[in-house]
Amino acid sequence: MNLHKFPRRGYVDRPTPIQYLPRLTEALGGRNDIFIKRDDLLPGCLGGNKTRKLDFVLGEAVRQKATSIVTCGAVQSNHCRLALAWANVEGLKCHLVLEERVEGSYHPGGSGNNLLFNLLGAASITVVPGGADVGGIMSELAARLKKNGERPYVVPGGAADPLGALGYAACAQEIAGQLLENDPGFNYIITATGSGGTHAGLLAGLEATGTPLEVMGINVRRPTAEAQKEIVAKLTVDTLKLLEHDRPFNPDKVSCFPDYLGPFYSKPDKSTLEAIELLAKTESIIVDPVYTGKALAGLVDFTRKERVFDAGEPVLFLHTGGSAAIFSYPELFKTAPPSLLPKGPAAAGPVGPGKTAVRKSK
Ligand SMILES: Cc1ncc(COP(=O)(O)O)c(C=O)c1O
Repeated sequence: MNLHKFPRRGYVDRPTPIQYLPRLTEALGGRNDIFIKRDDLLPGCLGGNKTRKLDFVLGEAVRQKATSIVTCGAVQSNHCRLALAWANVEGLKCHLVLEERVEGSYHPGGSGNNLLFNLLGAASITVVPGGADVGGIMSELAARLKKNGERPYVVPGGAADPLGALGYAACAQEIAGQLLENDPGFNYIITATGSGGTHAGLLAGLEATGTPLEVMGINVRRPTAEAQKEIVAKLTVDTLKLLEHDRPFNPDKVSCFPDYLGPFYSKPDKSTLEAIELLAKTESIIVDPVYTGKALAGLVDFTRKERVFDAGEPVLFLHTGGSAAIFSYPELFKTAPPSLLPKGPAAAGPVGPGKTAVRKSK
């Protein structure tokens, strides 16, 4: 697999670690050794999978001498945060089109990624209703920017085109290299699958490097396995074409599981919340209620029910990031632990020799 012919910005400066999770493994009964690939630690503002994709996509934007980018996502889009963050680094303006997939969910002064869109300085934010023709709206915006003398480059939602998927073909190559040094005997990678670029890129990279790993995609957006499979299979074929890989791709290799989607995109259910809490309390690693929490809920269920992987098989969970979004869900984890000291000024106690920190009582 030759990635050298594609312009690339070098955002991924080293492999992300693969770590064993002993406490999560034990909490799940020890049937499967659970490992995690820490793409949440990728460079870029707060890390996450889009850094790998934007490495290639913005490589092309810079090659075309763009002066700005236009891109889109949901109101708490991690992709939009990272596209904006990397655009800043490149000296490009970044225009965002946010799709309100849940009515009334955009708040200009909101938390999580919303706050970061403001702080990082998006050049413009256009909010459109769920189901709008976002592609058409981005083209219209780009045409308007052109008239104003800009050279806009349109990045598709999730950077989910073959160029963006190359980022995860590169990740597959990275994993294959890591396994040459130390292979616990993985058969499976588990990942969230939304726009499909991560899933398709991994499949293309595994295919092109002849690495015999399967990818289990946990649906985070579409309610059926078939709908997600179709998108991922097409993008895998197109990515392999871009890589000039000449053997046909068998679409039966695409596995998608809609069972952990919860009530809707971005809405968690009990299993998502349990998975988020379990990882936080065992390994102090944060997954989010929209993407990685659902993917982890899939892994937890597979392990408990011995579904998909057999007892004793080690499993690799791909942490694709997204933890910034947790701050926009304050209602989910609001039960504070109890205090063990009585209330009131005495509870503050003395601090330092002879000094007392006393909060004024009302
Ligand atoms: C944190 C996180 N994980 C996973 C995904 C899904 O990745 P993809 O869109 O490549 O399917 C996304 C998509 O936005 C994401 O933000």
